[in-house]
Amino acid sequence: MMPTTERPTSASSVIAGADDVTGKVLAAMASTPDARLSEIMNALVRHLHAFAREVRLTEDEWERGTEFLNRIGQATNDTHNEGILCSDALGFSTLVCLLNNGQAGATETTAALLGPFWRMASPLTADGGSLVRSETPGPALFAFCRITDPRGRPIPGVEVDVWQASPVGLYENQDPTQVDMNLRGKFHTGADGRFAFRSVKPAGYPVPTEGPVGELLRAQQRHPYRPAHLHFLGFKPGYKTLVTQVFVDDDEHLESDVVFGVTRQLVGDFRPGEGPPPTGDAGAPWYRLDYDFVMEPGEAKLPKPPIK
Ligand SMILES: [Fe+2]
Repeated sequence: MMPTTERPTSASSVIAGADDVTGKVLAAMASTPDARLSEIMNALVRHLHAFAREVRLTEDEWERGTEFLNRIGQATNDTHNEGILCSDALGFSTLVCLLNNGQAGATETTAALLGPFWRMASPLTADGGSLVRSETPGPALFAFCRITDPRGRPIPGVEVDVWQASPVGLYENQDPTQVDMNLRGKFHTGADGRFAFRSVKPAGYPVPTEGPVGELLRAQQRHPYRPAHLHFLGFKPGYKTLVTQVFVDDDEHLESDVVFGVTRQLVGDFRPGEGPPPTGDAGAPWYRLDYDFVMEPGEAKLPKPPIK
C-alpha cells in the first residue's frame, strides 16, 4: 500500500508541508488522458520524491544534479550521445534491454544494449565480404553467423548491420585515420539463416570520458573500459529487431564492462585460426568466430540512430 505521502490529494496545489508535496503533484497529473504517460509519470514522481527523502537531498546536491542533467544535453551532438552513455553507465540500458527481450526477462536472450555508435546507412556488403575499408592494423577475423527463431529454424532475409571499433579501440567516426564507414557493413542472411564477413579482431576501448559521465566514473573510481566486442542489429518484418553485441572471450575487462553489457550468452568463442586463412589477403595470426543469434517473433522496429 502507498504511504500517505504518495496518494493524490485535494485539487488545491497549495502545499501544507514536505509530506504534502507528492500527493499534490500526483493530484495535478491525475487527469492525464494518455494512460501509459499517466502510469509512467505517476511512478516517476513517486520514486523521485522517495529518492530525495531517502538520501535527504540537500539544496546544493539538487543544484548539482540538475546541472549534471543539463550538461548531459549540452555534451550531446551529431557524433556523440552523452544521454545514452549515462544510461549505459548506470546499467539502465541493460536493465531495459533484458526486461524487453527473452520473453520479458524470463529466458536468456541474445539481445544487448545498442550503445551510442550505431549509424543507419552502413554499406551493403556481399556475404563473406570485408568490413575493412581502409588500412586497419590487427589480426584478421572471419565471422560465421546464423540467425534462427526460438525453435532453431533458420531465418532467411534478415538485414544485419555489423559495426565495431578498430584494434586501437576507436570507431571510424571518432578516428580521422579511418575512412567513412570503415568496420561497418550491412548483410542479408541466406536461405540457411547464415551470413559471414571478414574483419579485424576488435579491441576494448574506454567510453568517452571528457563529459559529465566521465566525471562521475572518476568520482566513483570506476575504470571506463568496455571489453572488445562486435555490434549486430538484425531486422526483418515479423521479428522483434535484434540489437546485440558479441564479446571477445579473452578480454581483460570481460568481467568489469563499464556499461554492464556482458551476459553469459554473449561471450563469443574467438578461436585462433588454424592453417591458411579463408581469404588470401589475410596473414597470420587470424581468428575465427562462430555465433548463432535468436530472433523472437514480434515487431520489427528500428531504433533511432544515436548519431548521424
Ligand atoms: Fe561498442
